[in-house]
Amino acid sequence: MRYGVLDGGKRLRPLLVLAACEAVAGHPEAALRAAVAVELIHAYSLVHDDMPCMDNDVLRRGKPTVHVQFGEAQAMLAGDAMQALAFEVLTPDQDEHPVDPALQARLVGLLARAAGHAGMAGGQAIDLASIGVSLDERQLRDMHRRKTGALLQASVLMGAACGPAQGPESWQALSDYGAALGLAFQVVDDILDVTQASEKLGKTAGKDQDDNKPTYVSVLGLDQAQSHAEALRGQAQEALRRSGLATGIGEPAHWLAVLADKVVEREH
Ligand code: IPE
Ligand code: IPE
Ligand code: MG
Ligand code: MG
Ligand code: MG
Repeated sequence: MRYGVLDGGKRLRPLLVLAACEAVAGHPEAALRAAVAVELIHAYSLVHDDMPCMDNDVLRRGKPTVHVQFGEAQAMLAGDAMQALAFEVLTPDQDEHPVDPALQARLVGLLARAAGHAGMAGGQAIDLASIGVSLDERQLRDMHRRKTGALLQASVLMGAACGPAQGPESWQALSDYGAALGLAFQVVDDILDVTQASEKLGKTAGKDQDDNKPTYVSVLGLDQAQSHAEALRGQAQEALRRSGLATGIGEPAHWLAVLADKVVEREH
């Protein structure tokens, strides 16, 4: 479990939780717990994604994958236990670490829904069922929204939930920001798979084409995939403006604006 979660990784999901919490002046300990929990779910999804029965990958975060290092059964169980640990972290002992039980329940609900059948796990199931299948853009968007977008969107909403109650319009705007950023993230992941080398990525480049996976690059072509990522960046920034939170340097939502740019500009 330590091997799969402690080294490497961009920590984008935790950064989104903390940036969203800062934007709404939320409860810092609750947000830190949410940040750790979402990274645990993400790291578990990577351990399982790399297993021979899924993407069969040998390199992750610049190291041999967990199953290569420890065997398949241990990798499966490490992932299972990381998932449980995420929910342990979200529900601390009340005497030692007071986080309002209603907030705990809210965070658990947001994370569970994003990780499960309607989110990450369901999207991964569609991904594996789509090998060699030609998806149209709508189907591809649905798959990417679930497998990757849902957890990124939930990161934003978990951070925002740590603050005072938002009005429905502001909450919807933050949700739209998270959805656009989350989809952009996977579009860029598809692009980097064909444009970057394994050394830079810390994972095997060219894997999607080798595995015959439908991606934004295979469906739209590289140029259109790039313009689509840019359009999604614009949508994320527009939604953030709609939230009414100030995004200038030193203002509460500054880091949310920066992260939307980073997701699209990143090189690994
Ligand atoms: C990779 O996620 C898997 C996807 C959901 C596309 P990241 O690119 O965030 O992986 P790490 O955490 O930085 O290793
Ligand atoms: C993975 O998508 C999404 C997850 C939920 C882990 P990919 O299979 O494209 O992720 P990488 O490229 O292996 O990191
Ligand atoms: Mg995969
Ligand atoms: Mg993979
Ligand atoms: Mg990928």
